Amino acid sequence: MSASVVMIASGKGGTGKSTLAVLLGAELAARGRRVLLVELDCGLRSVDLIAGASGRTVYDLGDVLEGRCEAGKALVESPVYHDLYLISAPYSGGRIEPAALRVFLERAGPVFDTILLDTAAGMGRPFRAALGVAGRALLVLTPDPVAARDGRVVCEALDAGGCPDVRLLLNQVPPTLENCGVRHLDECIDTVGAQLIGVIPYSEEIRRAGATGTPLSPRGRPRLALRAVAARLCGRSVPLVVR
Ligand SMILES: Nc1ncnc2c1ncn2[C@@H]1O[C@H](COP(=O)(O)OP(=O)(O)O)[C@@H](O)[C@H]1O
Ligand SMILES: [Mg+2]
Repeated sequence: MSASVVMIASGKGGTGKSTLAVLLGAELAARGRRVLLVELDCGLRSVDLIAGASGRTVYDLGDVLEGRCEAGKALVESPVYHDLYLISAPYSGGRIEPAALRVFLERAGPVFDTILLDTAAGMGRPFRAALGVAGRALLVLTPDPVAARDGRVVCEALDAGGCPDVRLLLNQVPPTLENCGVRHLDECIDTVGAQLIGVIPYSEEIRRAGATGTPLSPRGRPRLALRAVAARLCGRSVPLVVR
């Protein structure tokens, strides 16, 4: 498999995994990478909406893994983000078998540069399936004590599962932390025990982009923060954009 496979995980739900999976995928694609975003959160589809491809994902990952359709038919390019391809999770009843996922990714690997795996919160099936194939994990955390504590548990599971590279991505970070229950972002980093790859601000623009499937403005702070993370994912050494 030649593509780099990055799983997106969290302990707590709603930290922004799916939103950042799409927006980071879009940034990587804007840097010239061919990106495949695989949604593993069975029954809770969202990346098609966030990527502006609602109604276009006729077939899903379950159809491909269980041999009901060719992979090529289930992959949909985002109409908003050129070179970002998606495959949706099954609506219901889907079970992602790790061995079948591996075979699918081995086939897709030579066609893409980066494969992003959007998992579900916690360490259930989507997490375990992704852990078997990912070379890197992004742990998405909001700056609060619960997300940090849960993040620590997931970080330990990633280490125990042999994930070679775990990075912390802080999301929904407000301008001041006074109502967050943490005094400094370092508290989150120390609790989780993983290296920081980026800080994404709390942003109504990100909410809107996700809810409406439309892009961020090119020069706004959210976009700059995402661009910095994408550059770091590509191995570039760029300063962290922190608030
Ligand atoms: N940086 C952000 N600023 C504001 N809202 C955000 C941000 N990131 C995500 N959200 C919002 O948080 C909610 C949960 O995001 P989602 O990506 O579905 O989380 P998850 O996949 O982790 O469950 C959505 O309404 C989304 O628009
Ligand atoms: Mg999600």
